[in-house]
Amino acid sequence: MQSFLRYILGILPIVILVCGGVTLWGGWTWGLGSLAVLMGAIAARDAWKLQQLHRWLQNQGLSTGHGANRTWEQVFWRLHSLEKRFDENREQLSEVSERFQQALALLPNGIIILDRNHRILWCNPAAEQQLHIQFERDRGQSLPYLIRRTEFQEFMEHPPTLEKTGILHLKHGNELTLSLQLVSYNQEERMLVTHDITQWERDEKVRQDFVANVSHELRTPLTVIGGYVETLQTSGPLPPATQDKILATVATQTLRMHRLVEELLSLSRLESQSGSAPSIPVPLADLAAQILQTAHQLSQDHHHVTQQGTWEGNLLGTETELVSAFANLVANAIRYTPSGGHITICWERQSQGGVFSVKDTGIGIEAEHIPRLTERFYRVDRARSRDTGGTGLGLAIVQRIAQHHEATLTIDSSPGKGSIFSLHFPLHRISTT
Ligand SMILES: Nc1ncnc2c1ncn2[C@@H]1O[C@H](COP(=O)(O)OP(=O)(O)OP(=O)(O)O)[C@@H](O)[C@H]1O
Ligand SMILES: [Mg+2]
Repeated sequence: MQSFLRYILGILPIVILVCGGVTLWGGWTWGLGSLAVLMGAIAARDAWKLQQLHRWLQNQGLSTGHGANRTWEQVFWRLHSLEKRFDENREQLSEVSERFQQALALLPNGIIILDRNHRILWCNPAAEQQLHIQFERDRGQSLPYLIRRTEFQEFMEHPPTLEKTGILHLKHGNELTLSLQLVSYNQEERMLVTHDITQWERDEKVRQDFVANVSHELRTPLTVIGGYVETLQTSGPLPPATQDKILATVATQTLRMHRLVEELLSLSRLESQSGSAPSIPVPLADLAAQILQTAHQLSQDHHHVTQQGTWEGNLLGTETELVSAFANLVANAIRYTPSGGHITICWERQSQGGVFSVKDTGIGIEAEHIPRLTERFYRVDRARSRDTGGTGLGLAIVQRIAQHHEATLTIDSSPGKGSIFSLHFPLHRISTT
């Protein structure tokens, strides 16, 4: 209404001026004639504009309503359709935007939209969790100010490119390593993508340590063998006793390498297995006989080896693996118990399952080492273990076999007094017949 009044007020002075002037000049007849001509011109201009609007709306592909054949009606009908179409588009757009936000919320990667001054415009829940920020609280805040890490500030200062990545180490209770990628998708905004690589970094470290350990373990015997071969090549004929000593050392070192490779292969086989071991009955009496034999062979009557419990029924699993795990524990007990010590091999039926244990009166282990004993190559006393031919893979193998049989390994030990290594099998891994 207001715009209509403004329109009238806009043309009224022209009409008054033109018609008044003509009336004064030629009288009323001329005045009325000029008014008619002026009104006609205005009406023709409006009709022409209406026609233009009509044609534009037609070009938008908007239909005319049924029976709407006059131009004004058609224009109104088409404007109405245009409004409807606009509403539909807006609804569709908000649906798409909602779906997009839901997808971003579920992404495991953190996404943060920043303005050119690195102030937070938006972020998803993964980013909140990884960077310890809260969108509602921190929106509009500078991200480098919130993170307060020099490496992060330096990373953000340089112009972003698609290839530009960085690493951020954070500690909110747990240690967290994030890979960062900063991209700018328009003049005003940038997107920071964060990816949690903590586990990957740990795995990579384990892999590097593993390669370093294997190389180190192989290097020692190879150096010894190489040295002796050189001696044999360069020195003249040696006395038979010296020659025998050299060959005995070479044989020991070769055996050591052979054992290492065997244990590595066995560990790798166990690690590549998926699922749990098949439930094949293995008589406990057979297991007891094999383990006792191993114990006597290794001890050479230097220890008092006894057997306890009722070894009846079956363990359900893979015999070779069970024998290997039990023998490893027995071998450790003998290796780390001085001559004259006692070693007890026990099987105990309990309401929740069965427990195989090896108890010794040996050197024992300090509490701080216990959680790490099943790591590959971990030895409490490297020199001592190596002297006795240990590679530090035995308990890693036992742990894998236990997992494969849904059993758990527990270690109870006190330095100077002795240790008890136990494997707890669940009820469904035991049968009485
Ligand atoms: N019964 C035990 N008493 C004292 N220390 C033990 C006992 N069993 C294991 N350990 C400690 O745990 C470490 C790891 O044992 P593990 O069986 O994995 O390796 P290892 O005996 O050194 O070598 P191998 O690969 O030949 O078994 C040993 O080096 C030793 O320090
Ligand atoms: Mg061992």
